[in-house]
Amino acid sequence: MFVRKQLLSCALLFSLASLAAPAPVAADTIAVIGTGQVASALGPEFAAQGHEIIYGSRKPSRGEVKKLVARTGHGASATTPADAAKDADIVVLAVPGMLVEQITKSLGDLSGKIIIDPTNPLQRGDDGLFEFGVETSNAELIQAITPHAYVVKAFNTLNWRTMIDPGTSGGPVSIPLVGDNDEAKAVVASLVEGMDLEAIDLGPLRHAHFVEGMLILWINNRNVGNQPFDYYLRKVPKD
Ligand SMILES: NC(=O)c1ccc[n+]([C@@H]2O[C@H](COP(=O)([O-])OP(=O)(O)OC[C@H]3O[C@@H](n4cnc5c(N)ncnc54)[C@H](OP(=O)(O)O)[C@@H]3O)[C@@H](O)[C@H]2O)c1
Repeated sequence: MFVRKQLLSCALLFSLASLAAPAPVAADTIAVIGTGQVASALGPEFAAQGHEIIYGSRKPSRGEVKKLVARTGHGASATTPADAAKDADIVVLAVPGMLVEQITKSLGDLSGKIIIDPTNPLQRGDDGLFEFGVETSNAELIQAITPHAYVVKAFNTLNWRTMIDPGTSGGPVSIPLVGDNDEAKAVVASLVEGMDLEAIDLGPLRHAHFVEGMLILWINNRNVGNQPFDYYLRKVPKD
């Protein structure tokens, strides 16, 4: 498998120096699990970068899924979630945040694959605001289920519309990335940059709790009717 080979061959290099710039991504097979808003945003964007997209859907023969496959193009297809993941180098979990554990477990052996996790563990509290629905983070739960995969948290802090149309925001739109493997983060950073978004490495996977918390603040702020905001982290020069 391309990604696993690339990760192994680069292991020595990355033990010596961390990547300053994203490595170029060869044409990969990307399983996008789900066919909702985030899947429909990311699938066509990744396909436009030359990757083959396989959607994993509970009902892959549905009319809307066929339309999404046709819109995605570049050899895209749809099948069941487990079959989509089996043949993929990269798996995107574009699924409901509180079902992440259950869905990850249903996908079979994900060892050696990069897993992109855009989910948020949102659970409605008694006062109507969203609460953090897990103890650690969804990204860490996924990594615990599949310890030999490379989990990268990405795309969870912004609305799907901004992901595909960052030009309307008035500046670079940043995508925080966290994960424990530099090469996997570089591969995801390359996908991010290919969408005219800016990847910002925020460190190890254990920081996912805080990155997922950013979305809780964002969505609750909207729900109480305060002045809406978006998160655009800005890079500054190193000291
Ligand atoms: N919407 C946004 O703007 C946005 C932005 C950033 C992050 N996120 C996060 O990204 C994740 C996906 O969000 P989304 O808005 O794309 O959700 P969505 O529109 O509800 O889509 C979720 C997809 O998951 C699949 N799925 C698999 N098992 C399911 C089940 N038991 N019940 C319902 N759906 C199931 C469905 O695809 P099939 O029916 O084909 O199986 C469904 O289309 C969430 O965790 C969300 O917090 C959302």
